[in-house]
Amino acid sequence: MTADDDKKLAAQAAVDLVADGMILGLGTGSTAVFAIELLGKRMEQGLKIKGVPTSDASAQLAKKVGIPLVTLEEYPILDLDIDGADEVDPSLNLIKGGGGALLHEKIVAAACRQVVIIVDEKKIVERLGKFKLPVEVIPFARGSVEKTLSQMGATAVIRKKDGNIFHTDENNIILDCDFGFIDDPGALSQKLNQVPGIVEHGLFVDLVERVIIGANGQIKTLKKS
Ligand code: A5P
Repeated sequence: MTADDDKKLAAQAAVDLVADGMILGLGTGSTAVFAIELLGKRMEQGLKIKGVPTSDASAQLAKKVGIPLVTLEEYPILDLDIDGADEVDPSLNLIKGGGGALLHEKIVAAACRQVVIIVDEKKIVERLGKFKLPVEVIPFARGSVEKTLSQMGATAVIRKKDGNIFHTDENNIILDCDFGFIDDPGALSQKLNQVPGIVEHGLFVDLVERVIIGANGQIKTLKKS
């Protein structure tokens, strides 16, 4: 079993939760890709759903597999979000944003009645923080935000792609931040929310109902207690 097999298994289990008529949040990343493709297959068999994509990449794939796309203006409350994660802790708090889509991902997750996260077991950790926390910043604010992050004890590195500064779908930049292990994700999340120029960050605290884990060919589920 490869990590991809486990991602696909988790994606299938999440897609099994989808019922006719649902409006879905469509996540971003390699695991969410499996879910979108599997949703497309179910639609071929008659399932009727609509989706709000969390990135341009997911929008393109959803269109390709035939999922009608809608907006949060049309549907401010969604039924179910299916998305991946970079790290998951025992309280179902997450680090997300490895793919750079954290802003739209968090907006969509917050708009959903239920958030289901699909991962392979490598993403499960005791404490968040080995994966560098992505922080999305307005380009104008880069200098002041870097200084504040350094005062907060983080080492921040600007994300690059193919040698150039990476820009998000909203044309912001990402600072990948090493805070060490994060003992209190809620407290750090609140602190970051207060920094002018930070648009969003990849800590997802208290947003998730269920995590489906593909683990060596088996499915494990963690549910919010
Ligand atoms: C995208 O911005 C991310 O939040 C992804 O959901 C996360 O990085 C997981 O991606 P993979 O499924 O590719 O590991």
